[in-house]
Amino acid sequence: MSVPYRICLIDDDAAARTALERVFAAEGHEVVSYPDGQHGLAAALEEDFDCVLTDLRMPGVSGMELIDRLRDELPNLPVVLMTAHGTTETAIEATRRGAFDYILKPFEMEELLAVVTPAAAAGRRGREKVGLGGEEKRELALVGQSRAMQAVYKEIGRVAEKPVSVLILGETGTGKELVARALWQHGDRKDKALVTVNCAAIPSNLLESELFGHERGAFTGAEARRIGRFEQAHRGTLFLDEIGDLSLETQAKLLRVLQERVISRVGGREMIPVDVRVFAATHRDLPALVAGGKFREDLWYRLNVIVIRLPPLRERREDIPELVSYFIARHGPELGGVASVQPAAVKFLSAQPWPGNVRQLENVMKRMLLLAHGYAITEELVRAALIQGPSAGATTDAAGRTLAALCEEALAAARRDPGVSAVTSMLSAVERELLTQAQATTSGNITQMAQILGWSRLTVREKLKLHGLRPEPSGA
Ligand SMILES: Nc1ncnc2c1ncn2[C@@H]1O[C@H](COP(=O)(O)OP(=O)(O)OP(=O)(O)O)[C@@H](O)[C@H]1O
Ligand SMILES: [Mg+2]
Repeated sequence: MSVPYRICLIDDDAAARTALERVFAAEGHEVVSYPDGQHGLAAALEEDFDCVLTDLRMPGVSGMELIDRLRDELPNLPVVLMTAHGTTETAIEATRRGAFDYILKPFEMEELLAVVTPAAAAGRRGREKVGLGGEEKRELALVGQSRAMQAVYKEIGRVAEKPVSVLILGETGTGKELVARALWQHGDRKDKALVTVNCAAIPSNLLESELFGHERGAFTGAEARRIGRFEQAHRGTLFLDEIGDLSLETQAKLLRVLQERVISRVGGREMIPVDVRVFAATHRDLPALVAGGKFREDLWYRLNVIVIRLPPLRERREDIPELVSYFIARHGPELGGVASVQPAAVKFLSAQPWPGNVRQLENVMKRMLLLAHGYAITEELVRAALIQGPSAGATTDAAGRTLAALCEEALAAARRDPGVSAVTSMLSAVERELLTQAQATTSGNITQMAQILGWSRLTVREKLKLHGLRPEPSGA
């Protein structure tokens, strides 16, 4: 949650603007605020924002007009509306017209962040173009010229413009989300929204309302009508990520929607036609889920008409050197400098099992860049960066072996030099590694680091100094 976003804030109430600016600044976000819709709109169209947070009722250009304009011109810039209780109906209408979400005044700052952060994250993703391998490198690219990846690019090119749903399969971290976005960007709905729902991240009792919306009073807590993501994606594209995690009940409803192209909100009777292109992805083994009765066979048949399978990284090791260079170029500038990498290091990286695939490689590269401080990436550094904390969720195999290898090295060094204690040097190495990782996952937020490391903020600062780490990297 600590990625810094750029937010366009529009509110005619100066006191509210100041309060909101303060909240976002405390979270590390950049806020540019405007006192009226006209200036706000002009800025939103002109500059690169991750999301727009606007009041609904303002003199001049209203929040509603703003949404209409932005929807037409920048369909993937999420707009969040702030609105008073009495105007709930209007807020709902706004969501229908394309606002990402709304929040009812008065609200707690926590609530506000819970609404704005995902909006900004979606906006950031929506702005990054995904280039296909072989093309000139853009900000974000599918990298790799292996046969397996070439087949993927070909498939993307073949189906992107067809009006069909696509199922994207592959282990975790193989690039499924990247492929979904490439499909959308190379398709004929790129001028319309790409709405993403992560089915695994939303509790199952809330998921149906998230997808299809709900009517007021549909369940306890449903104080107002809510527009679901299907309705929001009307004429655009809906990316259902982690579809293997859907409950059987939601699967049944989804199947009906895919067949009949109409939705009804939870607790509602009205049938609302939706024209939505659907992409779905999962890292799970769907046929096995079908065989085990966990995934509906009819939904599986409906979804698997066009399947893009992403190869695990270990089956396309020849892409690793290119990925390594790509991640250095992409993350180096913000993580301590663009480091060169020694051939032995690349060789060692290429030999790893990579159960977490490209994502794991990317994380290891980020850690290495932090450790390298702009100097060459050596094989030793690779070994150090491969030590995984339990939260990294990756292998115990590769990590275990590497940790053992490091201990071995520490013991050997201590044997050579009686002035060295193996325990002290090992603990110090582990401490440094934990600090570096904590820094990377919190973008250097000292309070959060203190929390996860179990130290006081003062200790965190002292330890950073002790290990020669920069107190606040500009991003991670
Ligand atoms: N071929 C690739 N070239 C460059 N970067 C890639 C490639 N594949 C994946 N990545 C990067 O790896 C990370 C993980 O990719 P992505 O989120 O698309 O994986 P996923 O398959 O959706 O994983 P999960 O199943 O865990 O959700 C992202 O940062 C993405 O940019
Ligand atoms: Mg994913």
